[in-house]
Amino acid sequence: MQKIIVAAVAQNGVIGNEGSIPWHSREDMRYFKNLTMGSPVIMGRKTYESMGKPLKGRLNIVLSGSMKSATEGLLVFDSLGKALEYCENEVKSEKVFIIGGGEVYRQAIKLVDEMSISKMKFQAEGSVLFPPLKDSDWDVEVKAEYEDFQVFWYKRKQFEVKS
Ligand SMILES: NC(=O)c1ccc[n+]([C@@H]2O[C@H](COP(=O)([O-])OP(=O)(O)OC[C@H]3O[C@@H](n4cnc5c(N)ncnc54)[C@H](OP(=O)(O)O)[C@@H]3O)[C@@H](O)[C@H]2O)c1
Repeated sequence: MQKIIVAAVAQNGVIGNEGSIPWHSREDMRYFKNLTMGSPVIMGRKTYESMGKPLKGRLNIVLSGSMKSATEGLLVFDSLGKALEYCENEVKSEKVFIIGGGEVYRQAIKLVDEMSISKMKFQAEGSVLFPPLKDSDWDVEVKAEYEDFQVFWYKRKQFEVKS
């Protein structure tokens, strides 16, 4: 199962402010929808609350230690490991997307194989940042170009183990 982070990041690393994304890009919303449609999406409780309802056409998984009851079309897990295990063993999905926010990206960045990062062409004000990246760990290519942003596709480098 491919584990993929999807994020939109401003030039200064900002991804969120006071429970929402501090910009509105229809193009990026469309890109995100096309990319994730049909696959499970995993998100933190604060990101789910900022959306208010599950994303259509996708199994929505929320990470939370405090949320109890689940709405239809929504599963809650109290660890990222359990959520990934469920997707792999029960859903048997080929891909799972980890869609934020900051706290969840920080945990997932060590585990994912690939990342789709929409680099916005502007700075933004906000207190939630994408975690720092070690560029030497990733092969990066520009996958698409839009008016507001460029999509950079990150693939974790595979190191040969010499015996
Ligand atoms: N630009 C983008 O692409 C993008 C994407 C998504 C979100 N965002 C923005 O990011 C901000 C939210 O990010 P955030 O860092 O504040 O919060 P978050 O990551 O969305 O949610 C944090 C919460 O998730 C739960 N959680 C996280 N890891 C967990 C784990 N391993 N096990 C169990 N529960 C876990 C905890 O919930 P409990 O407290 O209930 O235990 C925690 O308080 C918002 O502003 C949002 O709009 C931006």
